[in-house]
Amino acid sequence: MKEVETVVSQKKLDYAEVLERYRSYEQQHVFRFWNMLSSHQQQSFLQQLNSIDLDLIKDLSERFVLASSSIPEEDGMLSPAEVIAVPRNEQQRKSAAEAAALGEEALRAGRIGGILVAGGQGTRLGFDGPKGKLPITPVKKKSLFQLHAEKILALNRRFKIALPWYIMTSETNDAETRAFFDENQYFGLAKSDIFFFQQSMIPAVDDKGKLILSEPDRVFTNPNGHGGTLNALRDSGALANMENRGIQDVFYFQVDNVLSRISDPIFIGYHTQVNSDMSCKAVAKKNPHEKVGVFGKLDGKLTVVEYSDLSEAQMQATNDDGSLMYGAGSIATHVIKREFIEDLTGGTLSLPYHVAHKKIAYIAASGEKIEPEEPNGYKFETFIFDALQFAANPVVMEVERNEEFSPVKNPNGDASSETAIRDLCNLYGRWFETAGIPVPRDPRTHTVLGDVEISPLFALDESEFVEKSDTGLKFRDGLYLG
Ligand code: UD1
Repeated sequence: MKEVETVVSQKKLDYAEVLERYRSYEQQHVFRFWNMLSSHQQQSFLQQLNSIDLDLIKDLSERFVLASSSIPEEDGMLSPAEVIAVPRNEQQRKSAAEAAALGEEALRAGRIGGILVAGGQGTRLGFDGPKGKLPITPVKKKSLFQLHAEKILALNRRFKIALPWYIMTSETNDAETRAFFDENQYFGLAKSDIFFFQQSMIPAVDDKGKLILSEPDRVFTNPNGHGGTLNALRDSGALANMENRGIQDVFYFQVDNVLSRISDPIFIGYHTQVNSDMSCKAVAKKNPHEKVGVFGKLDGKLTVVEYSDLSEAQMQATNDDGSLMYGAGSIATHVIKREFIEDLTGGTLSLPYHVAHKKIAYIAASGEKIEPEEPNGYKFETFIFDALQFAANPVVMEVERNEEFSPVKNPNGDASSETAIRDLCNLYGRWFETAGIPVPRDPRTHTVLGDVEISPLFALDESEFVEKSDTGLKFRDGLYLG
């Protein structure tokens, strides 16, 4: 009996304490429905409330929401970034080959790991579940996760390594992502080489800086942006795991890019050659308004300016030859030195927050759930590329878009499943043609006609395909090589 009493009074004490703390930050409205909650709901709600950093939210609200000029504009100090161009002459091809040799050496020695950021949901695509579960390959409809996994398995076989793969999930999709890998036997990879880690969540606020209730017993939170990868790596023990395995650099990529050339040796080579802390891949922007971040230099430091932060004049600015001045678009692919992540997460450095005005469903004072028609809340995120300002010797390497960048962002049209599948077929079609096998193409658009799929386990790249293909091989719609 005594024990029960202690537990009850402990509960009450928690409630009083938490309520007092929320009151002191003028956020006590979150307790509006407290008396209607079951004791189980009250407990889990208190746990969530306890985990929220109210100082941080107060600071962000004051700076981004309540201040009169909320979003700082990039000023005129931006200048173009230096970029290693796609090799077009003998000298450039020689440099790339030297870099590739260095990269291959690092891979073979087991010094490279992989980080996949997959904290986002497929909501924007009208797909319910982790984005990585989206079926995407042209013939077999393998998921994004499986496509990436098979590339890693192929690398493991080629270099006789066991590349450790760190996969970032979020509260919303962690369990489902792990279950998907488990149900599919990790797509042939060893379970012990896959390390799931979860990024943190951060609350959003309304236009008065108040927390938003998504349920009577839940404050609305969103994943804290891919900048959260860094602290999540440290907090989960993934960073220590890398050190134990002798990993020196990690290849970082996004789940949505079907053409990602995972652990590209040329890229790793350029990065290690100059002892860079963090390197980046870029493609030439398709048009001034393409929704990709662009590389530039701000006060002499390499930076990515997000598309939403680039002024119209900066978007349209051109060089003498007519090319876009800020035309190096980020494909959100990096190589990052492990020690740099250790420095960044050691306590003194922190990434700046960005704010986005969004529609957030909420529980009104009446208890009714409201789906707003206009943006009503502010979400906060940090971005991994903001670490570039702290990086020594950052490298930007340009790559061909049709070889390396085709993200799935939209349900249809540009950057959708449809374009990703077409881009995969076009890639495989070019491999066939290099091998001397004719491929039917649309005479007007030059697109490959028909669906074809080459598993990374059959050939990871064009030269492997050319080696393996024989004269008997014919291109046909529905062909799968695995
Ligand atoms: C992003 C980049 C943009 C780049 C483009 C290339 C940002 C802010 N912008 O745009 O510069 O040109 O990709 O495709 O990133 N993710 C998490 N946790 C989060 C947020 C995102 O894991 O908290 C992951 C998502 O699962 C996804 C990736 O990060 O894999 C990108 O997120 P997304 O919101 O799609 O970025 P974009 O606006 O498309």
